Amino acid sequence: MAEDLSKSYGSLEIFTSVDLAIDRGSKVVIIGLNGAGKTTLLRILAGVDEPDTGGLLPGHGLRIGYYAQEHETLDLDRTVLQNMMTAAYELAEVEARKILGSFLFTGDDVHKPTRVLSGGEKTRLALATLVVSSANVLLLDEPTNNLDPASREEILGALAAFEGAVVLVSHDPGAVAALNPERVLMMPDAVEDLWNAEYQELIELA
Ligand SMILES: Nc1ncnc2c1ncn2[C@@H]1O[C@H](COP(=O)(O)OP(=O)(O)O)[C@@H](O)[C@H]1O
Ligand SMILES: [Mg+2]
Repeated sequence: MAEDLSKSYGSLEIFTSVDLAIDRGSKVVIIGLNGAGKTTLLRILAGVDEPDTGGLLPGHGLRIGYYAQEHETLDLDRTVLQNMMTAAYELAEVEARKILGSFLFTGDDVHKPTRVLSGGEKTRLALATLVVSSANVLLLDEPTNNLDPASREEILGALAAFEGAVVLVSHDPGAVAALNPERVLMMPDAVEDLWNAEYQELIELA
């Protein structure tokens, strides 16, 4: 639960008094134009940034998985496999490699330093680390950007099957359709509404 969140950068007010309740298994889409504060809000929900007012009330057993738009959750100095192993508690290497394989990292790919990966490869790795993290609330900031069609389909399938709660920021109508959200939060005014087909048309615009 997030209550009364406000954030400004200097004199630039990004949003004020945002309330958001994320129930177990609920699916919420955040939409808004560039600069509307979507990433800022997700960073606060993820605990990466502090709000100026308000705060978070974590539910019992909450385990957040955060996919950052700029991949800053990955350690660029470590290899693909090392990033994977640190994302999960007691993950066996063979299991890590199996999941990496399903995210299209095979053979010696897993020993590449993360720094040299392409944007799409970093996206795939970051999403693979979420899969092994046993998170029950995913905060996803434009997770299908940079993905080739085959990778995107894999990710959309995983998103559709995920049983935990998801807060998704996306301009990708297919990603939103895969999520099948029940609510939408429009930034920067933080107006919340039940999802309906008219919002589907807004996704690409906002
Ligand atoms: N660390 C920061 N310092 C100053 N301004 C920032 C900072 N982070 C974001 N902003 C500004 O806050 C606004 C919202 O950014 P952001 O949350 O990334 O928007 P969105 O994800 O909706 O495109 C933008 O105008 C951006 O330039
Ligand atoms: Mg953003």
